[in-house]
Amino acid sequence: MSTPTLTIVGAGVIGRHHGNVVDELGGAIELAAVVDPVEERAEQVAGPRGARTFPDLRSALEQAQTDLVAVCTPTGTHGELTIQALRAGRDVVVEKPAEITPAKIDEVIAARDESGGFVSVISQHRFDPSTRLLLDRIAAGELGTLVSGIASIDWYRSQGYYDSGNWRGTWELDGGGALMNQGVHTVDLLVAAFGRPVEVTAYTATLAHERIEVEDTAVGVVRFESGALGVLHATTAVYPGLSARLHVHGSRGSAVIDDDALTFLHVTPAGVDLDGPDYGGSRAGNQAADHPEASSPPPRAAGADPSALSQAHVWQYENILAARRGEEPLVVGLEENRRSVALICGVYESARTGAPVRL
Ligand SMILES: NC(=O)c1ccc[n+]([C@@H]2O[C@H](COP(=O)([O-])OP(=O)(O)OC[C@H]3O[C@@H](n4cnc5c(N)ncnc54)[C@H](O)[C@@H]3O)[C@@H](O)[C@H]2O)c1
Repeated sequence: MSTPTLTIVGAGVIGRHHGNVVDELGGAIELAAVVDPVEERAEQVAGPRGARTFPDLRSALEQAQTDLVAVCTPTGTHGELTIQALRAGRDVVVEKPAEITPAKIDEVIAARDESGGFVSVISQHRFDPSTRLLLDRIAAGELGTLVSGIASIDWYRSQGYYDSGNWRGTWELDGGGALMNQGVHTVDLLVAAFGRPVEVTAYTATLAHERIEVEDTAVGVVRFESGALGVLHATTAVYPGLSARLHVHGSRGSAVIDDDALTFLHVTPAGVDLDGPDYGGSRAGNQAADHPEASSPPPRAAGADPSALSQAHVWQYENILAARRGEEPLVVGLEENRRSVALICGVYESARTGAPVRL
Protein backbone atom coordinates (compact mmCIF):
# COMPACT_ATOMS: atom_id res chain seq x y z
CA MET A 1 0.00 0.00 0.00
CA SER A 2 1.43 3.43 -0.90
CA THR A 3 1.89 6.13 1.75
CA PRO A 4 -1.42 7.94 2.33
CA THR A 5 -1.44 11.65 1.52
CA LEU A 6 -3.05 14.37 3.62
CA THR A 7 -4.53 17.81 3.03
CA ILE A 8 -4.84 20.07 6.10
CA VAL A 9 -7.71 22.56 5.84
CA GLY A 10 -7.28 25.51 8.22
CA ALA A 11 -3.73 26.44 9.21
CA GLY A 12 -4.39 28.11 12.56
CA VAL A 13 -3.48 26.86 16.04
CA ILE A 14 -4.56 23.27 15.52
CA GLY A 15 -3.76 23.06 11.80
CA ARG A 16 -0.12 23.87 12.66
CA HIS A 17 -0.20 21.08 15.23
CA HIS A 18 -1.46 18.61 12.60
CA GLY A 19 1.62 19.62 10.55
CA ASN A 20 3.86 18.70 13.51
CA VAL A 21 1.96 15.44 13.91
CA VAL A 22 2.74 14.53 10.28
CA ASP A 23 6.46 14.97 11.11
CA GLU A 24 6.16 12.83 14.24
CA LEU A 25 4.45 10.04 12.30
CA GLY A 26 7.82 9.55 10.58
CA GLY A 27 6.76 8.84 7.00
CA ALA A 28 3.49 7.03 7.79
CA ILE A 29 1.62 9.86 6.07
CA GLU A 30 2.72 12.56 3.64
CA LEU A 31 1.49 16.16 3.63
CA ALA A 32 0.24 16.96 0.11
CA ALA A 33 -1.51 20.30 0.59
CA VAL A 34 -2.55 22.99 3.07
CA VAL A 35 -5.66 25.09 2.57
CA ASP A 36 -6.22 28.48 4.19
CA PRO A 37 -7.57 31.72 2.75
CA VAL A 38 -4.69 33.42 4.58
CA GLU A 39 -1.82 32.44 2.29
CA GLU A 40 1.03 32.99 4.78
CA ARG A 41 -0.60 30.66 7.31
CA ALA A 42 -0.95 27.93 4.70
CA GLU A 43 2.65 28.49 3.58
CA GLN A 44 3.97 28.29 7.16
CA VAL A 45 2.66 24.72 7.45
CA ALA A 46 3.12 23.62 3.83
CA GLY A 47 6.50 25.20 2.98
CA PRO A 48 8.83 23.25 5.29
CA ARG A 49 7.14 19.99 4.29
CA GLY A 50 7.20 20.53 0.53
CA ALA A 51 3.40 20.64 0.27
CA ARG A 52 1.26 22.84 -1.99
CA THR A 53 -1.03 25.64 -0.77
CA PHE A 54 -4.58 26.47 -1.82
CA PRO A 55 -7.04 29.22 -0.83
CA ASP A 56 -10.04 26.88 -0.67
CA LEU A 57 -10.77 23.17 -0.34
CA ARG A 58 -12.45 22.89 -3.73
CA SER A 59 -9.24 23.79 -5.62
CA ALA A 60 -7.19 21.44 -3.43
CA LEU A 61 -9.58 18.56 -4.11
CA GLU A 62 -9.35 19.26 -7.84
CA GLN A 63 -5.60 19.75 -8.06
CA ALA A 64 -3.82 17.92 -5.24
CA GLN A 65 -3.42 14.17 -4.92
CA THR A 66 -4.83 13.47 -1.46
CA ASP A 67 -6.38 10.49 0.32
CA LEU A 68 -7.28 12.14 3.62
CA VAL A 69 -8.52 15.62 4.50
CA ALA A 70 -7.93 16.99 8.02
CA VAL A 71 -10.57 19.64 8.81
CA CYS A 72 -8.99 22.14 11.25
CA THR A 73 -11.23 25.18 10.63
CA PRO A 74 -13.70 26.95 12.97
CA THR A 75 -16.16 24.38 14.31
CA GLY A 76 -19.28 25.66 12.52
CA THR A 77 -17.61 25.04 9.14
CA HIS A 78 -16.66 21.40 9.88
CA GLY A 79 -19.81 19.77 8.48
CA GLU A 80 -19.80 21.53 5.13
CA LEU A 81 -16.07 20.91 4.53
CA THR A 82 -16.28 17.27 5.67
CA ILE A 83 -19.22 16.61 3.33
CA GLN A 84 -17.39 18.31 0.45
CA ALA A 85 -14.35 16.05 0.98
CA LEU A 86 -16.49 12.90 1.33
CA ARG A 87 -18.35 13.67 -1.91
CA ALA A 88 -14.99 14.03 -3.65
CA GLY A 89 -14.15 10.49 -2.50
CA ARG A 90 -11.77 11.45 0.30
CA ASP A 91 -11.63 10.19 3.89
CA VAL A 92 -11.76 12.77 6.68
CA VAL A 93 -10.19 13.51 10.05
CA VAL A 94 -12.20 16.31 11.62
CA GLU A 95 -11.16 18.28 14.69
CA LYS A 96 -13.39 18.26 17.77
CA PRO A 97 -16.26 18.86 17.96
CA ALA A 98 -17.44 17.35 14.66
CA GLU A 99 -20.10 20.08 14.35
CA ILE A 100 -22.07 22.42 16.58
CA THR A 101 -25.33 20.39 16.84
CA PRO A 102 -26.29 16.69 16.67
CA ALA A 103 -28.52 17.50 13.66
CA LYS A 104 -25.51 18.79 11.73
CA ILE A 105 -23.51 15.70 12.72
CA ASP A 106 -26.39 13.60 11.38
CA GLU A 107 -25.99 15.31 7.99
CA VAL A 108 -22.31 14.33 8.01
CA ILE A 109 -23.19 10.74 9.03
CA ALA A 110 -25.62 10.56 6.08
CA ALA A 111 -22.96 11.88 3.66
CA ARG A 112 -20.40 9.41 5.04
CA ASP A 113 -22.78 6.49 4.58
CA GLU A 114 -23.70 7.62 1.08
CA SER A 115 -20.06 8.01 0.02
CA GLY A 116 -18.83 4.85 1.74
CA GLY A 117 -16.03 7.02 3.17
CA PHE A 118 -14.42 7.12 6.56
CA VAL A 119 -14.60 9.91 9.16
CA SER A 120 -12.76 10.10 12.46
CA VAL A 121 -13.21 12.90 15.00
CA ILE A 122 -10.18 14.09 16.94
CA SER A 123 -10.66 13.53 20.66
CA GLN A 124 -7.05 12.95 21.50
CA HIS A 125 -7.45 12.49 25.25
CA ARG A 126 -9.15 9.15 24.57
CA PHE A 127 -5.60 8.01 23.73
CA ASP A 128 -3.93 9.27 26.90
CA PRO A 129 -2.51 6.31 28.86
CA SER A 130 -4.60 7.45 31.87
CA THR A 131 -7.84 7.24 29.85
CA ARG A 132 -6.96 3.90 28.31
CA LEU A 133 -6.16 2.40 31.69
CA LEU A 134 -9.39 3.71 33.21
CA LEU A 135 -11.59 2.47 30.34
CA ASP A 136 -9.89 -0.95 30.44
CA ARG A 137 -10.53 -1.22 34.20
CA ILE A 138 -14.17 -0.19 33.77
CA ALA A 139 -14.60 -2.80 31.01
CA ALA A 140 -13.03 -5.44 33.26
CA GLY A 141 -15.58 -4.61 35.98
CA GLU A 142 -12.91 -3.48 38.45
CA LEU A 143 -14.80 -0.29 39.35
CA GLY A 144 -17.98 -2.31 39.89
CA THR A 145 -21.27 -0.59 39.18
CA LEU A 146 -20.56 2.96 38.03
CA VAL A 147 -22.30 5.33 40.41
CA SER A 148 -21.27 8.92 39.72
CA GLY A 149 -18.86 11.06 37.77
CA ILE A 150 -17.64 14.64 37.58
CA ALA A 151 -16.25 16.48 34.56
CA SER A 152 -14.77 19.78 35.70
CA ILE A 153 -12.84 22.21 33.53
CA ASP A 154 -11.67 25.18 35.60
CA TRP A 155 -9.84 27.26 33.02
CA TYR A 156 -9.05 30.84 32.21
CA ARG A 157 -9.23 32.38 28.75
CA SER A 158 -8.61 36.11 28.48
CA GLN A 159 -10.80 38.49 26.49
CA GLY A 160 -7.78 38.70 24.13
CA TYR A 161 -8.19 34.98 23.38
CA TYR A 162 -11.80 35.50 22.32
CA ASP A 163 -10.84 38.58 20.31
CA SER A 164 -8.05 36.64 18.51
CA GLY A 165 -10.44 35.11 15.97
CA ASN A 166 -13.79 36.53 14.90
CA TRP A 167 -15.36 33.06 15.16
CA ARG A 168 -14.41 32.53 18.81
CA GLY A 169 -17.25 32.92 21.26
CA THR A 170 -19.98 32.95 18.58
CA TRP A 171 -22.95 30.57 18.44
CA GLU A 172 -22.68 30.15 14.68
CA LEU A 173 -19.03 29.12 14.47
CA ASP A 174 -17.93 28.11 18.01
CA GLY A 175 -21.30 26.53 18.77
CA GLY A 176 -20.98 27.39 22.46
CA GLY A 177 -18.38 28.53 24.94
CA ALA A 178 -16.56 26.95 27.87
CA LEU A 179 -18.42 23.65 27.56
CA MET A 180 -18.51 23.23 23.76
CA ASN A 181 -15.02 24.45 22.94
CA GLN A 182 -12.85 23.77 26.00
CA GLY A 183 -15.01 21.29 27.95
CA VAL A 184 -15.86 18.94 25.10
CA HIS A 185 -12.73 16.84 25.73
CA THR A 186 -13.61 16.07 29.35
CA VAL A 187 -17.32 15.63 28.53
CA ASP A 188 -16.23 13.12 25.89
CA LEU A 189 -14.22 11.18 28.50
CA LEU A 190 -17.20 11.22 30.90
CA VAL A 191 -19.41 9.82 28.14
CA ALA A 192 -16.74 7.25 27.18
CA ALA A 193 -16.75 6.07 30.81
CA PHE A 194 -20.49 6.18 31.57
CA GLY A 195 -22.18 5.52 28.21
CA ARG A 196 -25.28 7.18 26.85
CA PRO A 197 -26.54 10.28 28.65
CA VAL A 198 -30.35 10.44 28.76
CA GLU A 199 -31.27 13.60 30.68
CA VAL A 200 -29.61 16.86 31.68
CA THR A 201 -30.50 19.94 33.72
CA ALA A 202 -28.20 22.93 33.59
CA TYR A 203 -27.46 26.60 34.07
CA THR A 204 -25.10 28.72 31.99
CA ALA A 205 -23.86 32.28 32.40
CA THR A 206 -21.47 34.80 30.90
CA LEU A 207 -19.83 36.31 33.95
CA ALA A 208 -16.36 37.62 33.23
CA HIS A 209 -16.07 38.32 29.49
CA GLU A 210 -17.46 40.90 27.10
CA ARG A 211 -17.91 40.61 23.36
CA ILE A 212 -18.80 36.91 23.47
CA GLU A 213 -22.23 35.52 22.66
CA VAL A 214 -21.72 32.20 24.43
CA GLU A 215 -21.32 31.08 28.03
CA ASP A 216 -18.07 31.37 29.96
CA THR A 217 -19.50 29.21 32.76
CA ALA A 218 -21.76 26.16 32.65
CA VAL A 219 -22.94 23.78 35.36
CA GLY A 220 -25.24 20.84 34.95
CA VAL A 221 -26.35 17.47 36.24
CA VAL A 222 -26.74 14.49 33.97
CA ARG A 223 -28.35 11.06 34.23
CA PHE A 224 -26.97 8.20 32.17
CA GLU A 225 -28.89 5.30 30.65
CA SER A 226 -27.29 3.00 33.25
CA GLY A 227 -28.82 5.15 36.03
CA ALA A 228 -25.44 6.65 37.02
CA LEU A 229 -25.38 10.39 37.76
CA GLY A 230 -22.87 13.01 36.67
CA VAL A 231 -21.91 16.61 37.34
CA LEU A 232 -20.66 18.97 34.63
CA HIS A 233 -18.72 22.14 35.40
CA ALA A 234 -16.91 24.15 32.74
CA THR A 235 -15.61 27.68 32.86
CA THR A 236 -13.10 29.87 31.06
CA ALA A 237 -13.64 32.70 33.55
CA VAL A 238 -11.65 31.62 36.63
CA TYR A 239 -8.24 33.20 37.13
CA PRO A 240 -5.57 31.87 37.07
CA GLY A 241 -7.18 28.70 35.70
CA LEU A 242 -6.73 25.33 37.38
CA SER A 243 -7.12 22.01 35.62
CA ALA A 244 -9.42 19.72 33.66
CA ARG A 245 -10.52 16.84 35.89
CA LEU A 246 -12.53 13.69 35.51
CA HIS A 247 -13.79 11.71 38.51
CA VAL A 248 -15.28 8.25 37.97
CA HIS A 249 -16.71 6.49 41.00
CA GLY A 250 -18.08 2.98 41.25
CA SER A 251 -19.12 0.42 43.84
CA ARG A 252 -15.70 -1.32 43.70
CA GLY A 253 -13.34 1.47 42.70
CA SER A 254 -12.72 5.12 41.87
CA ALA A 255 -10.40 7.07 39.60
CA VAL A 256 -9.41 10.69 39.11
CA ILE A 257 -7.67 12.02 35.99
CA ASP A 258 -6.29 15.52 36.48
CA ASP A 259 -4.81 17.32 33.47
CA ASP A 260 -4.44 14.03 31.58
CA ALA A 261 -2.63 12.25 34.43
CA LEU A 262 -4.13 9.55 36.62
CA THR A 263 -3.85 11.04 40.12
CA PHE A 264 -6.06 8.56 41.97
CA LEU A 265 -6.94 4.94 41.26
CA HIS A 266 -8.32 2.27 43.47
CA VAL A 267 -9.86 -0.75 41.82
CA THR A 268 -10.91 -4.14 43.13
CA PRO A 269 -9.96 -7.20 41.08
CA ALA A 270 -12.71 -9.65 40.13
CA GLY A 271 -13.31 -12.27 42.78
CA VAL A 272 -12.17 -10.13 45.72
CA ASP A 273 -14.82 -9.75 48.43
CA LEU A 274 -14.81 -6.12 49.60
CA ASP A 275 -16.22 -7.21 52.94
CA GLY A 276 -13.82 -10.13 53.22
CA PRO A 277 -11.51 -10.31 56.24
CA ASP A 278 -8.30 -9.82 54.21
CA TYR A 279 -9.32 -6.81 52.17
CA GLY A 280 -10.22 -4.00 54.55
CA GLY A 281 -6.69 -2.70 55.13
CA SER A 282 -5.93 -1.73 51.55
CA ARG A 283 -9.33 -0.25 50.85
CA ALA A 284 -8.35 3.42 50.82
CA GLY A 285 -5.00 3.06 49.07
CA ASN A 286 -4.07 5.05 46.00
CA GLN A 287 -2.77 2.67 43.32
CA ALA A 288 -2.06 5.39 40.73
CA ALA A 289 1.71 5.30 41.35
CA ASP A 290 1.73 1.62 40.31
CA HIS A 291 1.08 2.88 36.76
CA PRO A 292 3.85 5.43 36.02
CA GLU A 293 2.93 5.85 32.35
CA ALA A 294 -0.67 6.73 33.19
CA SER A 295 0.06 8.78 36.29
CA SER A 296 2.19 11.34 34.46
CA PRO A 297 0.85 13.54 31.64
CA PRO A 298 1.57 12.41 28.06
CA PRO A 299 4.74 13.95 26.61
CA ARG A 300 4.47 17.10 24.51
CA ALA A 301 4.68 16.60 20.79
CA ALA A 302 7.79 18.09 19.22
CA GLY A 303 7.54 21.17 17.03
CA ALA A 304 8.42 24.81 17.11
CA ASP A 305 4.89 25.85 18.02
CA PRO A 306 4.95 27.06 21.63
CA SER A 307 1.39 25.82 22.06
CA ALA A 308 2.50 22.31 21.06
CA LEU A 309 -0.11 19.91 22.28
CA SER A 310 0.58 16.49 23.68
CA GLN A 311 1.66 13.37 21.87
CA ALA A 312 -1.94 12.14 21.97
CA HIS A 313 -2.80 13.48 18.49
CA VAL A 314 0.00 11.26 17.15
CA TRP A 315 -1.52 8.22 18.87
CA GLN A 316 -4.95 9.06 17.49
CA TYR A 317 -3.55 9.40 13.94
CA GLU A 318 -1.89 5.99 14.36
CA ASN A 319 -5.33 4.54 15.18
CA ILE A 320 -6.92 6.36 12.21
CA LEU A 321 -4.30 5.05 9.76
CA ALA A 322 -4.55 1.50 11.15
CA ALA A 323 -8.37 1.64 11.00
CA ARG A 324 -8.23 2.78 7.35
CA ARG A 325 -6.07 -0.28 6.63
CA GLY A 326 -8.66 -2.45 8.41
CA GLU A 327 -6.16 -3.43 11.12
CA GLU A 328 -7.82 -1.83 14.19
CA PRO A 329 -11.28 -0.64 15.13
CA LEU A 330 -11.69 3.14 14.85
CA VAL A 331 -11.76 4.53 18.40
CA VAL A 332 -13.56 7.84 17.78
CA GLY A 333 -16.04 8.09 14.93
CA LEU A 334 -18.93 10.49 14.34
CA GLU A 335 -21.38 8.50 16.48
CA GLU A 336 -19.15 8.73 19.58
CA ASN A 337 -18.64 12.47 19.19
CA ARG A 338 -22.37 12.99 18.54
CA ARG A 339 -23.17 11.77 22.08
CA SER A 340 -20.94 14.44 23.62
CA VAL A 341 -22.29 17.21 21.36
CA ALA A 342 -25.88 16.13 22.12
CA LEU A 343 -25.17 16.35 25.85
CA ILE A 344 -23.61 19.80 25.50
CA CYS A 345 -26.50 21.07 23.35
CA GLY A 346 -28.86 19.60 25.98
CA VAL A 347 -27.09 21.78 28.57
CA TYR A 348 -27.72 24.86 26.41
CA GLU A 349 -31.37 23.99 25.85
CA SER A 350 -31.97 23.33 29.56
CA ALA A 351 -30.29 26.61 30.48
CA ARG A 352 -32.47 28.44 27.94
CA THR A 353 -35.78 26.82 28.91
CA GLY A 354 -35.23 26.28 32.64
CA ALA A 355 -36.37 22.66 32.29
CA PRO A 356 -34.66 19.27 32.20
CA VAL A 357 -33.89 18.07 28.66
CA ARG A 358 -34.34 14.45 27.56
CA LEU A 359 -31.62 13.45 25.13
N1 LIG B 1 -8.04 18.90 19.65
C1 LIG B 1 -7.68 19.99 20.30
O1 LIG B 1 -7.11 19.94 21.39
C2 LIG B 1 -7.97 21.34 19.68
C3 LIG B 1 -7.23 22.47 20.09
C4 LIG B 1 -7.51 23.70 19.47
C5 LIG B 1 -8.53 23.79 18.52
N2 LIG B 1 -9.25 22.67 18.19
C6 LIG B 1 -10.36 22.77 17.20
O2 LIG B 1 -9.79 23.13 15.94
C7 LIG B 1 -10.66 24.01 15.23
C8 LIG B 1 -9.87 25.28 14.85
O3 LIG B 1 -9.42 25.92 16.02
P1 LIG B 1 -8.10 26.86 15.99
O4 LIG B 1 -7.86 27.24 17.39
O5 LIG B 1 -7.00 26.20 15.20
O6 LIG B 1 -8.65 28.13 15.17
P2 LIG B 1 -7.79 29.26 14.45
O7 LIG B 1 -8.67 30.45 14.34
O8 LIG B 1 -6.46 29.40 15.09
O9 LIG B 1 -7.54 28.65 12.99
C9 LIG B 1 -8.57 28.43 12.05
C10 LIG B 1 -7.97 28.59 10.65
O10 LIG B 1 -8.95 28.17 9.69
C11 LIG B 1 -8.89 29.06 8.57
N3 LIG B 1 -10.16 28.94 7.85
C12 LIG B 1 -11.38 29.47 8.18
N4 LIG B 1 -12.31 29.07 7.29
C13 LIG B 1 -11.67 28.29 6.39
C14 LIG B 1 -12.09 27.56 5.23
N5 LIG B 1 -13.38 27.57 4.83
N6 LIG B 1 -11.17 26.86 4.54
C15 LIG B 1 -9.87 26.83 4.93
N7 LIG B 1 -9.41 27.49 6.03
C16 LIG B 1 -10.31 28.21 6.73
C17 LIG B 1 -8.61 30.42 9.19
O11 LIG B 1 -8.08 31.34 8.25
C18 LIG B 1 -7.62 30.05 10.29
O12 LIG B 1 -6.29 30.10 9.83
C19 LIG B 1 -11.85 24.27 16.17
O13 LIG B 1 -12.91 23.41 15.78
C20 LIG B 1 -11.34 23.89 17.54
O14 LIG B 1 -12.37 23.40 18.39
C21 LIG B 1 -8.98 21.47 18.72
